[in-house]
Amino acid sequence: MQSGTERHIKQDVRVSFQYPVSFTSDLFHPDNSVLRDTVALGHERAWASKLFAVIDGGVAKHRPDLGAQIESYCRRFPDALQLVSPPLVVVGGEGVKNDPAYVAAVHDAINEFRIDRHSYVIAVGGGAVLDMVGYATGTAHRGVRLIRVPTTVLSQNDSGIGVKNSVNAYGKKNFLGTFAPPFAVLNDATFLTTLDDRDWRSGISEAIKVALLKDPEFFGFIEQHATALVSRDMPTMEWLVYRCAELHLEHIATSGDPFEMGSSRPLDFGHWSAHKLEQLSGYALRHGEAVSIGLALDSTYAHRVGMLSAREWQRVINVLLALDLPIFTSELEQHLNAPNDSRSVLSGLAEFREHLGGELTIMLLNGIGSGIEVHEMDLEHVRASVDILKRYG
Ligand SMILES: NC(=O)c1ccc[n+]([C@@H]2O[C@H](COP(=O)([O-])OP(=O)(O)OC[C@H]3O[C@@H](n4cnc5c(N)ncnc54)[C@H](O)[C@@H]3O)[C@@H](O)[C@H]2O)c1
Ligand SMILES: [Zn+2]
Repeated sequence: MQSGTERHIKQDVRVSFQYPVSFTSDLFHPDNSVLRDTVALGHERAWASKLFAVIDGGVAKHRPDLGAQIESYCRRFPDALQLVSPPLVVVGGEGVKNDPAYVAAVHDAINEFRIDRHSYVIAVGGGAVLDMVGYATGTAHRGVRLIRVPTTVLSQNDSGIGVKNSVNAYGKKNFLGTFAPPFAVLNDATFLTTLDDRDWRSGISEAIKVALLKDPEFFGFIEQHATALVSRDMPTMEWLVYRCAELHLEHIATSGDPFEMGSSRPLDFGHWSAHKLEQLSGYALRHGEAVSIGLALDSTYAHRVGMLSAREWQRVINVLLALDLPIFTSELEQHLNAPNDSRSVLSGLAEFREHLGGELTIMLLNGIGSGIEVHEMDLEHVRASVDILKRYG
């Protein structure tokens, strides 16, 4: 045998994955078998699976009985579910992604209660809690099964239904994370009733985003039902959440890049500035509110550089205002002449590129329902767009 011969093995491994995204109400009511049936799906033969539950503190505040309800639900289906301990309640909101102690607490429980790759963690909460628990379950045993129960508009129509999870580190949002599809997502509309108005409204911006990129008819629906949405009409919100989730899932399934190996992230329209603004505001701005400002900024920019007509630009601004969503914040203005200063929103462009790797790729609009990618932004036009929004906002 000759030594020193170069050899190369190439392989093409194709992996497909499925997870159900169900829409229900009163998920933990003893007559609702959706959770039981979902868990039973995971096994060839019936046995009781271990289940460990994590609850968002913001949800627990409005539903102090929720832990007990989950316990009695599991007792109702002893053939399928074995709750290993009382649920763990964690703080809700971005704080849960900023403090590594929460990830450690979930890891500790997975270890202590011997949650294995055929057991389940169920996370009930907003996007932040789901992101944190998803990171913990995605890394323990290289991935244990996660059932997500999103409880905010944003998490039911966007963040909780996809394949990503993360926590913040080094002052950067979503610096640590994995791509890990959930075992299932169970959307329960009744949770939305206890949201405060800010959280009810802010997730609508993700629906506007995906409508602007992919579905002009859906954009028209949001325009026509803005008043109903602001006045918290439940059937209208349920349809908005369902259609938005469907468009996001269609994208994940058909874009050809579910794990974002390329340099572009087509659904992140408006997000280069949104992520930066969240950070600059010390997370006082909600993700959805920051996205609303980001959509306003990039639409104004697209109009200024001649991509988007005045009429279409006005429709975008009008729908955001009709929904009482913000289109301006003072953080937009700070250090605007110092694009490399980390206190300037403009530094968000470089951070956005770095997070994805490869070439800067920003999604803009060239019509309602039609996105277009660009690889550079003219900073003078961004500054002028900020000025325009300041006058409006
Ligand atoms: N993984 C992804 O693909 C992805 C995508 C977009 C956003 N995100 C992340 O999602 C997070 C934002 O999620 P969010 O908008 O759901 O907000 P959130 O999770 O920050 O929750 C906002 C507040 O609502 C409370 N809350 C949650 N459910 C409630 C309910 N039913 N009733 C009353 N209060 C409730 C929470 O305790 C919190 O105080 C951000 O961290 C963002 O980065 C992730
Ligand atoms: Zn988003």
